[in-house]
Amino acid sequence: MKILVIGATGMVGSRVIDEAARRGHAVTAVSRSLTPHADAAGVEWVAADAGDPDALKPLLSAADVAVLAVRLAPGSEHALAPTTTRVLDAAATTATPLLVVGGAGPLRSPDRPDLLIADNPEYVPAVWRAIAVASTDQLEACRRHPGAEWTYLSPPALLAPGERTGTYRRGADTLLVASDGRSHISAEDLALAVLDELETPSGQRHLTVGY
Ligand SMILES: NC(=O)c1ccc[n+]([C@@H]2O[C@H](COP(=O)([O-])OP(=O)(O)OC[C@H]3O[C@@H](n4cnc5c(N)ncnc54)[C@H](OP(=O)(O)O)[C@@H]3O)[C@@H](O)[C@H]2O)c1
Repeated sequence: MKILVIGATGMVGSRVIDEAARRGHAVTAVSRSLTPHADAAGVEWVAADAGDPDALKPLLSAADVAVLAVRLAPGSEHALAPTTTRVLDAAATTATPLLVVGGAGPLRSPDRPDLLIADNPEYVPAVWRAIAVASTDQLEACRRHPGAEWTYLSPPALLAPGERTGTYRRGADTLLVASDGRSHISAEDLALAVLDELETPSGQRHLTVGY
């Protein structure tokens, strides 16, 4: 497959690229500043802004699928949903399926289905609230979009660099919590889940993964 990864130099994007290259896919890696993290075979680096549809359309057009994994700077979180809408607009024009790696914010709490994670201080301390709310808005932007083919992947509460264990669990719209009581996954195993979903689409619009 030809996979376009937007947000390619980030924690998630870089691992998605590694996993895609490992599986033999051709990758076009996009971020605004070009600081390739690896010289993996089959990776082409292009500098572009996710908010620039004219730059994205030819890249989307050349891809079989695309992954959006951008995190905006603190203070700019409110721009995440509009930026995502612009990417969805471009992806709709080129009929390219888009997998959005978003946040845990729009997931339901495990013991309180009526309470979103973004509103649950047990999982989202005040310092993370802006990004959690932004990810909830981002999923709403996907749901409102009239023409794009999208999938929204919510990580568990904790997502950090770690080990590629090769295992993870899948869920729908409720936060996954491991048997040790933690809601977590390594960025390496999240990338595995991203590639599994790209290779074998589940048809789920909103899904989550975790240990
Ligand atoms: N538990 C959770 O819910 C959780 C935890 C962590 C991350 N996440 C989510 O995972 C996703 C990826 O996060 P991350 O931690 O990998 O982010 P990150 O490490 O901060 O990387 C962000 C990436 O996005 C790129 N980027 C930012 N603005 C861009 C723009 N306008 N156009 C193109 N590229 C842009 C950055 O490169 P340039 O600056 O060079 O453009 C960089 O490659 C985000 O949706 C984030 O909210 C969720």
